[in-house]
Amino acid sequence: MLNFKKEIAKQIANVTNVNEKEIEKYIEIPKENTNGDYAFPCFKLAKELKKAPPVIANDIKEKIEIDEKIISKIEIVGGYINFYINKETLSKEVLKEFENNKEYGKSEIGKEKNIVIDYSAPNIAKPFHIGHLRSTVIGAALYNIYKYLGYNTIGINHLGDYGTQFGKLIEGYKLWGKEYNIENDPINELTKIYIRINDLCKKDENVLEQCRYNFKLLEEGDSYCKEIWTKFRDLSLKEFQKVYDLLGSKFDSWNGEAFYSDKMQEIIEILNKTGKLVESQGARIIDLADKGINTPCIIEKSNGSTTYATRDLAAILYRARTYNFDKALYVTSYEQTLHFKQVFEVAKLLGLDEKYTNGLEHVPFGMVLLPTGKMSTREGNVVKLEDLLNEAIERAYEIIEEKNSELEDKEEIAKKVGIGAVVFNDLANSRIKDEIFDWDTILNFQGDTGPYIQYTYVRTRSILEKATYIPLMKDIDIKLLQDEYSLNIIKIIYNFEDTLIQVTNKEEPSILSRYLIDLAKAFSNFYNENKILGEEEKLQKARIYMTYMVSNILKIGMSLLGIQMPEKM
Ligand code: ARG
Repeated sequence: MLNFKKEIAKQIANVTNVNEKEIEKYIEIPKENTNGDYAFPCFKLAKELKKAPPVIANDIKEKIEIDEKIISKIEIVGGYINFYINKETLSKEVLKEFENNKEYGKSEIGKEKNIVIDYSAPNIAKPFHIGHLRSTVIGAALYNIYKYLGYNTIGINHLGDYGTQFGKLIEGYKLWGKEYNIENDPINELTKIYIRINDLCKKDENVLEQCRYNFKLLEEGDSYCKEIWTKFRDLSLKEFQKVYDLLGSKFDSWNGEAFYSDKMQEIIEILNKTGKLVESQGARIIDLADKGINTPCIIEKSNGSTTYATRDLAAILYRARTYNFDKALYVTSYEQTLHFKQVFEVAKLLGLDEKYTNGLEHVPFGMVLLPTGKMSTREGNVVKLEDLLNEAIERAYEIIEEKNSELEDKEEIAKKVGIGAVVFNDLANSRIKDEIFDWDTILNFQGDTGPYIQYTYVRTRSILEKATYIPLMKDIDIKLLQDEYSLNIIKIIYNFEDTLIQVTNKEEPSILSRYLIDLAKAFSNFYNENKILGEEEKLQKARIYMTYMVSNILKIGMSLLGIQMPEKM
C-alpha cells in the first residue's frame, strides 16, 4: 500500500538534505482533522539547519514537489507544515489492499525474527487468580499480533511448579493430607493446607526447617517428595485447563520452573567463574549495588536451595540456545519489576551474546482491583478465576435474554460476550495502569467495551445479511465514499497495520483495543448519518462495501486480542 508518511518524508528529506528516516520519526498525525492528515514540526530541524522554524516551513513548502495524487494541499500553521493527503487516492489504496488481501494487515515484517513470550504462569497448588488472567490475556494478544506480523513466536507457560512452597505443602500433606479431599477440589484444599502449614511455620521454627529440608529433598530427586509433587502438579494443571478452555489459551511450551532443576548447576558454575558470586550470611549472592540495584540477587539460599531468580537465569540460557530469540518478553504484574531488573543484570554475566541480553524485556502490568480493594493470594481473599469467568457468562446471558430473548444459541453467544468483556477490559487501557474490576462498566454495551465492539460487528453482519450480496470492488465508485463519515472510516482502516506495528514497538495491546473502539465508533457515526440499504444502486454498493470492510477488520482485530465475535446478539 502507498505509504503517505514515507512519501512526505522523502520529499522533505530532498528539500532539506536531512536524513529521511530522521524526518519520518518527526512526522506527526494531528489529533484534529483541521490540521491536516500529517504534520511536520519544523522546529525539530531548527538547530540542524540553523534557521527559524517559519523560514524552514516556507522553504519546504516552496521547494517541495509532491504529486497532487498523493498530497492535495499543504498549509503552514505556526512552525508546522500540515499535509492533506489526496482522499481519493487514499480510498483507492485501501480498497485495493483490502480486495487483494484476505487477511488485511497481515505482513512479513517479522520474518526470521524469533520472539519468546513468557506469560500466564500460574503457580501449582495455588489459585489461578485475576493477575494471572491479565498476564494470560496480554501475553496472548501480543503473541497473536507478533505472529500476524510474520514473527516466529513462541509462547511459554513458565509454570510456578517449584520452590520452597512445595517443601511446605509436602509437609502439610504429610501431617494432615487425609483430612482434605484434594482429589475433588485440589486448589481449594491445597490452599487450605498451605495456609495452615504457613501458620504453623510462623509459630514453630522447626517445622519451617523441615519444610525447607523437604524442598531440598525434592531438588535431590527424593522419590516420595517427587511423587507428592507430581500429584499436586497434575491435579492443578487439570484445574487450570478449565480456565484455559474458557479463554481458548494455547501454549507452545509448558516448561515451568521445575524443568530447570537440572540446569541451574551450570548457572552457578558460570557465575562462580566470574568471581562475582559471593557469600553473604551463608547464602550466595550477586551484589548489584554498582548497577544501581540495591537489593542483591540471591542465587543460592543458605541451605543450598536455588531460587526463583536462579531458575529464571537457567531459563534465559536455555531459551537463547533453544529459540535463538531476538526478543524475550516477560508478562507479569509490576510487582516483579525488581526481580526482572536483577535477573536481566545478572544475565549479562552468563557470557551470552549481547543480542540476547539486549532482547530481554519485562512487560509489567498494573493490579486488578476490586471496588473493595486489592485481591491477594496469601490472605485467602481470592477470587477464583473460573467462577469469575462463569459469572461473566451468566451476566451476559441475562443481558442478552433481556434485549433479545428470541435469539438462538444464547449460551454460545453469552460465552463469547461474557468472556470477551472480561478479556477486553484487561486490554482496554495502557497495561501499566491499575484496573478496577467492575461488572457494570465491563459489560456496558454502550461503553468502550468488548460488548460494544461485538454489538457493532453484529450490526454490520445484519446489514450484510439484509443486503444479500457483497459488491465487487470493481463496481465501487470511490467518489461516492468521499463524505466525512466514510473518509473517517477509510483513514482508520488505512492505519491498521501501522497500529499493529505500534503494539509491538511498545508491547502495548491497548493500542489495538483503542483502535477498534475508534473504528466501531466511526462506523456507528457512518451508519447514523448514511443510509446504507435502499439507496440508489451505486451508492448502496459503495456503502455495503464499506460495511463489509469494517465488519472484517473488527473481526480480525478482536481475534488478535483473543476475543471471539458472535454473529448475532
Ligand atoms: N509464577 C509467577 C507468578 O505467579 C510468574 C512467572 C513469570 N515468569 C517468569 N519467567 N518468572 O508470579
